[in-house]
This record gives sequence, structure tokens and C-alpha cells, in this order.
Amino acid sequence: MELQAWNFRGRKLRPIVQGGMGVGVSAGRLAGTVASFDAMGTISSVDLRRLHPDLMERTARLEGPEAKAQIDAANREALAREIRRARELAQGRGLIAVNVMKALDQYTTYVRQALESGADALAVGAGLPLDLPELARDFPQVALIPILSDARGVQLLVRKWEKKGRLPDAIVIEHPRLAGGHLGAAALADLQDRRFDFDVVLPEVLAFFRAAGLEGKIPLIAAGGIASHEDIVRLQGLGAAAAQLGTAFAVTCESDASEAFKQVLAGAKPEDIVEFTSVAGLPARAVRTPWLEKYLRLQERMQKHAHEKAHCTMWFDCLAHCGLRDGKAAWGQFCIDKVLGHALSGDVRKGLFFRGAGRLPFGEQIRPVRDLLQQLCGDSMEASNA
Ligand SMILES: Cc1cc2nc3c(=O)[nH]c(=O)nc-3n(C[C@H](O)[C@H](O)[C@H](O)COP(=O)(O)O)c2cc1C
Repeated sequence: MELQAWNFRGRKLRPIVQGGMGVGVSAGRLAGTVASFDAMGTISSVDLRRLHPDLMERTARLEGPEAKAQIDAANREALAREIRRARELAQGRGLIAVNVMKALDQYTTYVRQALESGADALAVGAGLPLDLPELARDFPQVALIPILSDARGVQLLVRKWEKKGRLPDAIVIEHPRLAGGHLGAAALADLQDRRFDFDVVLPEVLAFFRAAGLEGKIPLIAAGGIASHEDIVRLQGLGAAAAQLGTAFAVTCESDASEAFKQVLAGAKPEDIVEFTSVAGLPARAVRTPWLEKYLRLQERMQKHAHEKAHCTMWFDCLAHCGLRDGKAAWGQFCIDKVLGHALSGDVRKGLFFRGAGRLPFGEQIRPVRDLLQQLCGDSMEASNA
């Protein structure tokens, strides 16, 4: 079976989206390479200064109330650089999106920077981006793509946006039982809920679009556990326009993470993958590496002793609401920026390695983006710059 190309915003794209992955896993190199093959690549906006030695030199050791403004400025500069890099690599092909988590303290700043730096699209999850239409009002050419997980969320968001005179240009439907990173379910106990299964949520969302007179107006991008051409054929059969993959792109040669990071993800067995509650108060999925193993052992005790801190451990306040800083006893109790930073630099002992639950298209192999796209697209589309 042939995949259907994705006609989006006047372009004929491969029906493949590379999902945003922070911290520093999907930056300009990965997103630009993916776009160069006529797909959509996504830069994750969070704490990108970590990929820039000069910006880290300026900000890594800052402390005190003055630190935050300088760290935020470094991250804005890093995002602008990564968007430029992606553009250079893409050579005008495909689309470059920027992913911003609604849960971030600097959500608005990153959105503005992405718009000003010329992103083609904004993909926003980890919270409901009800204010995105206003924030992006002066940039109508930029596609707005919320990341949601169930039909109820889609209905709520579309109704609110319609009142502001804007529709999403596409919606990512991310499956909390399968995807990596933060998950779109309220609690760990909800992850298995049938309402998230693609054969439930996609028909429900399409039925809502029909009833609301929006049929054919908002393409759906399915995400989570997608590993083969056949998976994408099935999802297109259910009405998805495209498929978003995260982990499979995180382990490509062009991924912006370290080799050690890629090996931890690619080498993980199903029994090594675990779910827990993050400091953002959302369920998350990662590889059970030594740090996570130890944290999970101590979690209950740490939660019992949770209390509001005088300031963020890193003087960065990456999240608007943080379980550790704000002393929220039911949320995670660790510094997420620190452990994701360790993962990015390949510290297998101290890092937090987000990963989806599914098998990978090439098993433990680290292969180029081109191989992955060719495998996913089958024979239907030759790699444009192969
Ligand atoms: C290492 C890693 C980091 C991620 N970080 C983010 C992120 O910062 N923002 C986001 O919206 N999604 C994030 N995700 C989710 C991906 O964008 C993608 O939707 C998801 O991984 C798809 O599932 P798959 O990994 O099974 O393909 C992350 C996933 C991984 C594996």
C-alpha cells in the first residue's frame, strides 16, 4: 500500500513529522535534516543554550535573582540560532516547526522568538494552549499545531479557538500509553484508557469535525508507538493525514543528542521502560537508568517531605509550576533541567532518558534520517535528495 502524501499549507510533504524532543535532542540539525527530505522537522525550544558552549560559558554557573534573565536571554539566542541552522540544512524543503511546552515558565517568550525567527509552525503541548491564537495573531502564515490526546481535549480547544476566529492548522493526537516524554493524561492510572487508542480517538475527532462543519479542514497527526510503513498505512486508513515519531528520530545519526543518549534509548528493552509522575505534575515515560531507579525508590519518602523552596535549584525556573520548587507532594521531586542536561551530555548514570514504549524500526541500530524516512515511506516516495 502506498502512503498518501500530506498536502499542507501549499506543500506536498511526506506524511511524517519528527516530534519535538527536549532538552536539546531535536534541535536545528535533526529538524533541518528531516525537513530536507520534504517532511516536517521540529525543534524543541527548551533550554537550547545547552548545545552552545559559548552560551553555557556565560550562564552555567550563574546564581541569584539576576541569573534567570540571562539564562532566558541565552535560550532565546540559542533558539534563533537553531532555527537558522535548520533553515540552512532544509534548503527550502519541508517545514520547520518549533515545539513549545505550555508548562514552561517562558512559554510566551519561546513562542514569540519562534515566530520572529521564522518558524513555519508552532507545535504546543503539555497543557492546553488556549492563548496561542492571540500570541500568534501577527503571524498568520505560521501554522498552529496543538498536541492533544483525546477527543474531549480537541473539542474543547477547537470550540475556544473558534471564538477567537482561528482554527488549528493541524492537531497532533499523541497516545499516552505509547509516546515518550510527558504524556497527555491527567494521571498514571489513566494511561491505559481506551479513549486514547487511535481506533477510538481518530474516528471520534473526525465525527466531531463533521458535526461542527469542519470536515477536511484540520489534518490529524497521530503520534506514539509508530514504527513501520504498515503502521502509517493503518493510521491513514483511520483518517490521520500524517504520523509523528519521536524516539525513532532521537536515535538517528543526525539527532542532536550524544551517542550515549542514543544508545540508552536504542538499547532499552520493553521491561526497562517505566512511567512516573514528573515535576511538571504530568505522567512521563523514560528508560529505567540508574538515576531513575534510585529516584523511584526514594520518591515516596521525598514526596512526604515536599515543601516550598526559597528558590529554584538552578535559578532558572524552567517550569511555571514545579513539584520540587513549589513543594507539591503528589508531583515529582527532582530537578528536571539538571537530569535532562545530564542525559543530553550522555551521562548514563545521572541522566533522565525519555523514551516511547514501542519497538524501534531498526532495533538497536543508529541509522541516518534518510534510512528511517525511506523505511517508513516504503517505495512510495524516493528520498528527494538521496
Ligand atoms: C527524548 C524525548 C523527548 C521528548 N520531549 C518532548 C518535548 O520536549 N515536547 C513535546 O511536546 N514532546 C516531547 N516528546 C514526545 C515526542 O515529540 C513524540 O510525540 C513522541 O515521542 C512520539 O512517540 P514515539 O517516541 O513512540 O515515537 C519527547 C519524546 C522523547 C522520546
